[in-house]
Amino acid sequence: MKKILFFVISSIIILNFSLSETQLNKKQSSVEKRINKILSKMTLEEKVGQLVQFSLSGSGKEYKEKKEKYLTLIRKGLIGSFINVKGVKERNSIQKVAVAESRLGIPLIFGIDVIHGYRTIFPIPLAQAASWDLELVKKSARIAAIEATAGGIDWTFAPMIDITRDPRWGRIAEGYGEDPFLASRMSFAAVKGFQDEDISSPTSLVACLKHYVAYGAAIGGRDYNSVDISEKTLREIYLPPYEAGIKAGALTVMSAFNSINGIPASANSFTLRKILKNEFSFKGFVVSDWESIKETINHGFSKNEKDAALKGLIAGVDMDMVSGVYLKYLPKLVREGKIDEKILNDSVKRVLRVKILKGLFENPYKNEKRADEILTNEKRNFERKVAQRSIILLKNKNNVLPLKKFPEKIAVIGPLAKDKKTPLGCWSLYGRSEDVISAFEGIKNKVKNRAKIFYSKGSEIRGFIKGGIEEAVKISKNADIVLLFLGDNISGEDASLAHLKLPEPQLKLIREISKNTRSPIITIIIDGRPRPINSIIKYSDAVLLAWYLGIESGNAIADVLFGDYNPSAKLPVTIPRAIGQIPIYYNHENTGRPLIKNKPGNFSRYRDESNEPLFPFGFGLSYTKFSYSNLKISPEKAHSNGKIKVSVKVKNTGNYDGEEIVELYIRDLVSSIIRPVKELKGFRKIKLKAGESRVISFILDEKLLGFHYKGNNITVEPGKFKVWVGPNSQEGLEGEFTILE
Ligand code: NOJ
Repeated sequence: MKKILFFVISSIIILNFSLSETQLNKKQSSVEKRINKILSKMTLEEKVGQLVQFSLSGSGKEYKEKKEKYLTLIRKGLIGSFINVKGVKERNSIQKVAVAESRLGIPLIFGIDVIHGYRTIFPIPLAQAASWDLELVKKSARIAAIEATAGGIDWTFAPMIDITRDPRWGRIAEGYGEDPFLASRMSFAAVKGFQDEDISSPTSLVACLKHYVAYGAAIGGRDYNSVDISEKTLREIYLPPYEAGIKAGALTVMSAFNSINGIPASANSFTLRKILKNEFSFKGFVVSDWESIKETINHGFSKNEKDAALKGLIAGVDMDMVSGVYLKYLPKLVREGKIDEKILNDSVKRVLRVKILKGLFENPYKNEKRADEILTNEKRNFERKVAQRSIILLKNKNNVLPLKKFPEKIAVIGPLAKDKKTPLGCWSLYGRSEDVISAFEGIKNKVKNRAKIFYSKGSEIRGFIKGGIEEAVKISKNADIVLLFLGDNISGEDASLAHLKLPEPQLKLIREISKNTRSPIITIIIDGRPRPINSIIKYSDAVLLAWYLGIESGNAIADVLFGDYNPSAKLPVTIPRAIGQIPIYYNHENTGRPLIKNKPGNFSRYRDESNEPLFPFGFGLSYTKFSYSNLKISPEKAHSNGKIKVSVKVKNTGNYDGEEIVELYIRDLVSSIIRPVKELKGFRKIKLKAGESRVISFILDEKLLGFHYKGNNITVEPGKFKVWVGPNSQEGLEGEFTILE
C-alpha cells in the first residue's frame, strides 16, 4: 500500500503549478529514479520493445490471428504501445497480457486519433480556430478526453498544429490556420484541455503535437510532398505552436511524413534533437507518423529498413509507429556498435517517463463501467455553442440576416442541406452520422410549423442530378427566401485539390437560381478549407462559412440564420480570389516594388488579378456594428525591455448585442531581417450590449516585439514600430511607437 502511495505521489505531472520549485524538483527526481531502476532491469530487446507500436483493428479471423501474433510479442516485452485498439474491454485484456505475463510487467500505452471529439464531435480545428475562443477550445478537448479515456484510450494524436498557407492541402481542416500567434494560443489551450492539470488522472489524455514539422508547407499543397523552407520561416511561422504546446506540458510529439530541406522529418536531427529536445527542452517522447521512418527509403535517404531504423533513432524519433523496423533492427544495430546504447536508453527513458507520469504503472487498466462515452444534452448544448461561435458571416447585403420574421415559404436547397455525414468532418473515428443534426433538420427544429419548407437537393456535390437544377429553380421562384447549402466533403489526409472552385454542378445551381428568382439567396458553405468563392459571394445576398461543425451543425446554423446567435467568428486563414494567388497570407513581407495603384511602373502584382485576398485574415461580420476609437499608446518611446500599453475604445453602435474579436497587429518598420507587413500580437473576444462600449488594453513586451535572430534567440531592434487595433488584418486604428537605442 505504502509503495502504491509513493508511486501515485511521484507520478504527479511535472507541470503541476501548485507545487513549489523544490517540491517539483523532488517529484521529478523521484520519477527519474524510478525510470532508471526499471531501465537497469531491462534486456536490450525489452528496451527496444518500448519503442515499438503496432496497430490492431478490424474483425474476424484475421483480427484474431493478428492479435495472437502480437500477444506473443507482448509476453516477450517486445511491444510498448498500440494504435487503433477499440473498446475498453479489449484494451484491458491486451494490457493484462503486458502487465501479468511479460517479465517486467511494463504497461502498454494505447493511442488513437481523437482530433475534434470522440462521440461528441465538435467543429473541425480550423472552425474552432475561427472562434478565437481559447476557453471553448480547451473545454471541447476536455470533453473529448473524458469520453476517449472512458473508451479505453490513454493517448490522442492531437492537437494538429501545422500552420499552412495553402488551402490546396486537405489537412488545412485539421489545424488552426495560417497564423503562428493564434495557432500557438490554440495549441496551448488544446493541450491543457486534453491533458488537464493532472495527467495521471483517469480522465486525462496524453496529447501529441503533430506533425513535426513544417508538414503544412508541402510544395504545391500536395499531401506528403517535400518542404523547402528557410530557418527563418521555420522558426517564425512553423515552430511557435510546438513551443507553446510543449510549454503547456504536451508529453508527446509526432514526426512528420515530409522532408525538410532534403532531410526527412522522421530522420532529422536538426529539428528533433537540436530544436525540440535541446532548445525546447522537450522531455517526453517522439513517435513517428505511420511508417514514416521506413518511408525514408522512398525519400532516397535510407538504403534499406536497417538504415532507416538507424537514422530514425539517431535523429531522435523514439517510437516507431507500425513499420516494425525498430523491432527488427535496433537490437542488431546496438550489438554491432552502430548505435550507442546511451542513445537507445534515452529514448526508452522518455517512453517510460510518459507511462509513469500518466499513471499507467499504478492504474494499467481502465474502468469498464464509466459511462462517459454517452451523448448528453449538456454536451450537445455545449457543442452547439462551439459550433455557433465557429460560423463566419462573410456577406450580409441590406442586413438580410438575421431572418427576423419567419418567412412564409422557405426553400432549402443544395447537396449539403440534408447531409448528416459531412458535418462530422475528417477524423471522427467514433462519430456517428445518426447523431448529427443536418441543416435541414436544424431549420425544421427552429421553424416548427411557422413556415412552409420546400426542399430540393439540386445537384450532387460533384455531379449533376437529372432535372435537379430545374426543380431547385422552381421551388426557389416560389419561396420568400432561399437557403442554399453548398460545399465539399473532400478534406483531411490525402485530400489535396488542384481545383479550388466549388464543383461546376453547384456553381450552375447558384447561377440558375439567382437568374430566376428575386427572393434573397442565403448561401451556407459547409466545407473544410478556404477557397475562391467569388461567384458564390456575387450571387448571394448573404453568405455564411459554416465549415464542418460537428453533431449540432444544423441547430447552430439555424440559430445564426434566425438571429438566436449573433455571429462573431473571424477567419483564421486568408480566402484567396484565385488559385494563382496561393500561397496568400496576411503576414507577408513587403517587396522592393510594392503595388501603388494608378501609378505607372513595374510592380509586384498579377496582371490578371488583384493582389488582394477575397477576404483577409481575421475578417468576419456581425449583425451589429462595432466602432473603434481613442487609440492610446503609452509610453510612445521605450527601451527594448520596457512594456508598451496599447488601448482602444470599442463601441457596439448597432442594434444587437454582440461579441467582437479585437485584433492587435504590429510592424517593425526597419530591421536587420525584414519583418512582415503585419503580425498579430494580441486578440481579445469581448461581449458588448447594443450601445455599450469598453476600453480594451494590450501590453506589448520584448517577447512580442522581438524576432528570431540566429537560432532560437529573440531580439528586439531599436526603431519605429506601427501598431493597429481593429476588426481584422486590413482595418483598424493605426499608431506608432519607438524602441530606443
Ligand atoms: C497518419 C496521419 O498523418 C496522422 O495524423 C495520424 O495521427 C496517424 N496516421 C495515425 O492514425
